[in-house]
Amino acid sequence: MRRARLALSLAAALATSVTAIPTPYNYEQAPLAAVESPGFVFGHPGQRVNVSLYVMSRCPDARMCESVFEDVLKHEGILDQVDLKLEFLGDIDRHAAYGVDCMHGDVECAGDAHQLCLAAHTPLEQFYAALSCMNYGNFPGAIGTIALTRRCAETSGIDWWASGVGKCVEGKRAAMVGRYTQRLAALTGEGYEPRPKEWDTEDEDAPLEHLGKEARLRLADSVRHTKKVGVTKSCTIEIASTLKHDKTRRCVVDGGVWKGCDDGHTAADFVRVISKEWKALNPT
Ligand SMILES: *[C@@H]1O[C@H](CO)[C@@H](O)[C@H](O)[C@H]1NC(C)=O
Repeated sequence: MRRARLALSLAAALATSVTAIPTPYNYEQAPLAAVESPGFVFGHPGQRVNVSLYVMSRCPDARMCESVFEDVLKHEGILDQVDLKLEFLGDIDRHAAYGVDCMHGDVECAGDAHQLCLAAHTPLEQFYAALSCMNYGNFPGAIGTIALTRRCAETSGIDWWASGVGKCVEGKRAAMVGRYTQRLAALTGEGYEPRPKEWDTEDEDAPLEHLGKEARLRLADSVRHTKKVGVTKSCTIEIASTLKHDKTRRCVVDGGVWKGCDDGHTAADFVRVISKEWKALNPT
């Protein structure tokens, strides 16, 4: 009898919590996931083409590159042909709030780190949808606030805590509390509110927020890598090449101007180059 009642109320709680979870991609824009990816079904076996975007999260030139690559990734089959990485520009500085100096301030460092967390814990398609969401609208706006990153993650269908993104961004303690609250809400039937009202304050002038340890490590690693490969401009696009003599195709957007893009700089140009490189890596 008691057991039956418990089962009933549990079922009710589950039903509430399920209906409270929003449909992914339900507002602002429906970037990549709306696009069919036949490659996902049939699979492109073999090696992928390494592509790196060297960026800064609050840099307008970076936004330009990322927007072109949004179109590149929408192109049929490309998602399965690339290994796309975002790398960040900055200087290691142990006196800085997050251990790195970023050109557009500490809040940019936070934004960089958030994007690295998204990239590390979600599939490319979802990561890129969240990235495009962050770039959308009044740029650079609230980039670097947890509020914006979390909203963009959740509208891209990413479960903030279960994915590991939330823990990376906010740290271990916040993740423990967050996951507990999420579970409790589901059990008590109050429903899991994925986006409380207070998150609407995406205020770039708010005090600096705590940044998780994993996020800091990823940021430091990334800026070190960028220094090591000698990239000094955001945005720099690098496509690893087995066809070109110097092994890499580099292309820069500087002050809104494309530079050194021998193979062109439209989405169609990048698609063509990537397909060519992929075919060279995966001869039939
Ligand atoms: C891509 O980069 C990884 C290292 O990040 C390297 O091990 C791999 O060989 C590269 N692949 C190609 C095809 O260049």
